[in-house]
Amino acid sequence: MKDEQVSRTAQMTAYSRGYHSRNDTPVIFDDFLAFDMLGHEERRSLEEQMLAMLRSANPEAAAAFNDDESALNWLMQSGASAPIVLGRARYAEELLKQAMEQGARQYVMLGAGLDTFAFRHPELLADMQLFELDHQGTQAHKRRRLEELEWEISNNLYFIPVDFTRTSLIDVLRESAFDPQVPAFFSWLGVTYYLTQSEVMATLRDIAAISAPGSSVVFDYLDTDAYVYRLAAPRVQRMIEVVRLLEEQMLSGFNPFSLASELERVGMTLVEDLSPADIHKRYFWGRTDHYRACEHAHFAYAALSKARY
Ligand SMILES: C[S@@+](CC[C@H](N)C(=O)[O-])C[C@H]1O[C@@H](n2cnc3c(N)ncnc32)[C@H](O)[C@@H]1O
Repeated sequence: MKDEQVSRTAQMTAYSRGYHSRNDTPVIFDDFLAFDMLGHEERRSLEEQMLAMLRSANPEAAAAFNDDESALNWLMQSGASAPIVLGRARYAEELLKQAMEQGARQYVMLGAGLDTFAFRHPELLADMQLFELDHQGTQAHKRRRLEELEWEISNNLYFIPVDFTRTSLIDVLRESAFDPQVPAFFSWLGVTYYLTQSEVMATLRDIAAISAPGSSVVFDYLDTDAYVYRLAAPRVQRMIEVVRLLEEQMLSGFNPFSLASELERVGMTLVEDLSPADIHKRYFWGRTDHYRACEHAHFAYAALSKARY
């Protein structure tokens, strides 16, 4: 990803949330502001790009649709990306509310992208400090977009540029209004894929080192089978390929069986690891459309190890 550019995958994930909010019932996660945040031009451009990719990768399937609307509906509901995006957003905001009930008063969104939490939940924002960290190109784009939209930016919202491959999270948070004495909730959605395992672990180690007892982090990841051609589900292979074409290569995954011990080594305790079957049961069961939890995608929730207190 280039420093000055907006992340194409952040735009895609916002598109998935906006599409779902406007077109599907019942909603798994209602980001009713996502299409506004994206903007009409960007939305049309993403739709054209998705349809062009479908026509070139699978001309027979593309020809079978009567119109673009049906093709987009199929891409959203049967693809790998939207169910991951919707499920993890729902899970993260459920955990955030739980963490706030237990005393967390800081929310750190790592790789926030075009997430609209700050504007969907002013009542929660009033009771916390929110830190949106992201790659500088994506963050600059979001701030320009917010100015165009004239949405009011709360004094509790801080934007901090970061590059997880180059910067220490400890350094950037120390230079900000983040308070290491106040329990914090971190979300890291749709980002671990693009980093190496050691970069992911370095950031998790920083979270453990800079946060107060009672702090926690939610993140999603792919299991390592997703990167093995003969083991990966076809729609996950397609997602990895599409993202590569967008020049945001997915690099790594984790073994769910060793994740708990890897987290312990960086000062975190795995509280919960939702497998695709768990996610399906929790958020997708009984739907009459085609959304299904995505193979290989896990949602993990980890807290600071008690041994650190
Ligand atoms: C797939 S998007 C997810 C955005 C948002 N969390 C969501 O769920 O919609 C990936 C995000 O990670 C950010 N990102 C990727 N690599 C990064 C890096 N090395 N440092 C900082 N941010 C990065 C991108 O800018 C983008 O906002």
